[in-house]
Amino acid sequence: MDMTASAEAQPNIALVKYWGKRDIARNLPAVGSLSVTLADLRTQMTVSFAGSNQDTLRVNGKDEPDMLARVSHCLDLVAGCDRPAAAVRSEGNFPIGAGLASSAAAFAALVVAANAAANTGHDRLALARMAGAASGSAARSLYGGLVELSADGDQIELTQLAAAADWPLRIVVAITADEAKSIGSGDAMIRCAETSPFYPAWIERQAADLALAREAVAGRDFAVLGAVAEHNCLKMHSVMWSCRPPVVYWNSATLACLETVRSLRSSGHAVFFTIDAGPQVKAICMPESEVAIARALESTPGVIRTMSTGVGRGARLIG
Ligand code: DP6
Repeated sequence: MDMTASAEAQPNIALVKYWGKRDIARNLPAVGSLSVTLADLRTQMTVSFAGSNQDTLRVNGKDEPDMLARVSHCLDLVAGCDRPAAAVRSEGNFPIGAGLASSAAAFAALVVAANAAANTGHDRLALARMAGAASGSAARSLYGGLVELSADGDQIELTQLAAAADWPLRIVVAITADEAKSIGSGDAMIRCAETSPFYPAWIERQAADLALAREAVAGRDFAVLGAVAEHNCLKMHSVMWSCRPPVVYWNSATLACLETVRSLRSSGHAVFFTIDAGPQVKAICMPESEVAIARALESTPGVIRTMSTGVGRGARLIG
C-alpha cells in the first residue's frame, strides 16, 4: 500500500462568520457560517505514514512543534489512534497566522492527504467534519465556491450553495501586517463567550443573517450579500472589542481600507469588505471593478501589498 499522499487546499473567507463554540472539546461551532473558497492562495500537505516512532511536522521547510499536537489529533480522527506515526510536510504561498485562514487550508488539505495515505475511504462530509474538529473554518475548505456550514444539529452539515464557476466573484486581499496575530481565533472566541455582553445577541441574530445571505447567493444579489456580510463582520468585531480584556485585531490601515472600500462603492463599484481574526481587509468585488479596487487599496496608507484571487475549488489530492 502506498502510505504517502499529497493534497492541496485553499483558504476560505467567511461572509457570515463562525464566531463562538458550542462544544469546546469537539470544537463544534455555536453558529452556522457562509464562506467563499479562494482560488490562488494554496497550501499543499504531504502525509507519509512512515512508521517512525513519532509524528513530525515541517511547515515551509521548518519544524513546527507548536502545531504538531493539533495535527496529530486530526490524523487520529482520520486514520485511527493505532495508526503508524506520520511525517507531515506543508508548503504554502501566503503568510500563516495573520488572519488569512491558513489553518483552514492546512487542515482541509491534511484530512484529504491522510485519508488517501491511510486508505481509509472517508467521504467528503466525513472529512469536512474531521477538519472542522481541528479548526472550525477548515470544514468549509473541503468544498469549493460558496459554502454554507450549518451548526444546528449534533454534527455540522455542509452545503455548496454555488460552484466556483456559477458566480465569478473576485477577492482582493489588502495585507496590512505580516506578523502573526497576538491571540488565536479559538481562544478569542472563548473569551468573547465568557466576557462580552454582546455575545448572546450575536448568537441570536446569526440565523437571520444566514438566511439573508443564502437567499442573496441563490439570487446572485451582490448588493444584498455585501450589506449582510459587512454587517455581520462589524458585529463580530464589536463582540471582540467588548471583551475583557478586549480583542482588537485592527490597525489603522484596516480602518483606512474600510474607507477606501466605501468610497469606491459610492463611486459606483460593486464591492464590499470583510475582516477576520487579523488586520487584513478582504474586498469582494465583481470582475470589472477588480483593477480599480486593487489600485485603490494598494495606495491606501499602511497597506503593504494586495493579492487578488477568484473563487476556487474544494480540497483535493494532487500528484
Ligand atoms: C474570524 O476556524 O480559526 O475567521 O475552530 O478555533 O480553529 P477554530 O477557529 P477558526 O476561526 C475562524 C474565525 C473567523 C471567521 C470564519 O472563518 O468563519
